[in-house]
Amino acid sequence: MTRIYLDHAATTAVDREVVQAMAPYFTEMFGNASSLHTFGRDAKDALARAREEIADALGADAEEIIFTSGGTESDNLALRGVLLGRKGHIITSSIEHPAILKTCRYLEGLGCDVTYLPVDTDGLVDPGDVESAITGETRLVSVMHANNEIGTIQPVSEIGAIAADHGIPFHTDAVQSFGKTEIDVQKMNIDMLSLSSHKIYGPKGVGALYIRKGLKIDPIVYGGGHERGIRAGTENVSGIVGFAKAVSLACERFESDTAHLVKLRDMLIDGVFDSIDDVFLNGHPTERLPNNANMRFMFVEGEAMLLHLDMKGIAVSTGSACSSASLDPSHVLLALGIPPEDVHGSIRFTLGRENTDEEIRYVLDVLPAIVEKLRAISPLTGR
Ligand SMILES: Cc1ncc(COP(=O)(O)O)c(C=O)c1O
Repeated sequence: MTRIYLDHAATTAVDREVVQAMAPYFTEMFGNASSLHTFGRDAKDALARAREEIADALGADAEEIIFTSGGTESDNLALRGVLLGRKGHIITSSIEHPAILKTCRYLEGLGCDVTYLPVDTDGLVDPGDVESAITGETRLVSVMHANNEIGTIQPVSEIGAIAADHGIPFHTDAVQSFGKTEIDVQKMNIDMLSLSSHKIYGPKGVGALYIRKGLKIDPIVYGGGHERGIRAGTENVSGIVGFAKAVSLACERFESDTAHLVKLRDMLIDGVFDSIDDVFLNGHPTERLPNNANMRFMFVEGEAMLLHLDMKGIAVSTGSACSSASLDPSHVLLALGIPPEDVHGSIRFTLGRENTDEEIRYVLDVLPAIVEKLRAISPLTGR
């Protein structure tokens, strides 16, 4: 059966060139980067090269990159590293990934105050709201770069400039945007930035936090003095080498990948609008990731659509990978002001560099019949 993967915001296949780059670091160059012998020095050199490569892609310096186990840990490190044991106020948005929202709730339990900024109907945070929320106690502003469900890209440069004017560090979760939008931490006034390898055709379980020189943050994991004492634990050398290779491929292919993704995304959105009634785009019409098409099909259950598409070999998602196992309506779509009964009819298609025009045509061939069939048996039709 045809198998079409349209869930790249959940994860991506590891690029074969990445696998090749990683392979020697499992078997021949398996040293511990802290060891003083040649095996150790080889591993240490590989880490240094990877750090340089990733820093370059962000306009940062190598020593500003801390390797972690992925986006979740990077988000935790950014927030807890600044706030733990200190109390104070954090400003974030109501549509963040759970790695931020749940960390904020944890910090609230420890006595911190958190402002969860609203978003408009396209999912945008108003930078003016960030400024108005700042108090004398504000220790951190954390607003994601691009949303994992709807793909809306936030005005992070403006938000960063406001935070900088007030002398408050600004963190952004760039897990979904990195590799798909231009990022320069200097130009964008970013003090901390979270990355994850498995969203950009790298291996799972590895990521990084960029921390601007001079910004003091405490570790959240204690142990050896790895990663400048900020993140203890023997470095995942093969994973980090793979992550760096994935970053260099993303940089090399940036323009062709973006053009390809935008073409397929627009072909999908236009094709759906042409062939199916009562469909709406979730998220911003233009300020959105090149690979995200999140659409709301009225009078249909998203989970039923997902299963029917899966039976046709097409993999999509109803929300984020983290929340799609639960039937709670998406906090992101609710924050856009979409009524809960309509939220449930949303499907997220996230495209990747290996997808083809032919695959999108196949989706457009099978989708109208699935929607029609589900609407015919839906108790919601004709409200
Ligand atoms: C915006 C965002 N932040 C953080 C994460 C967590 O990253 P990881 O899976 O590397 O822990 C994800 C994963 O879906 C994400 O989309």
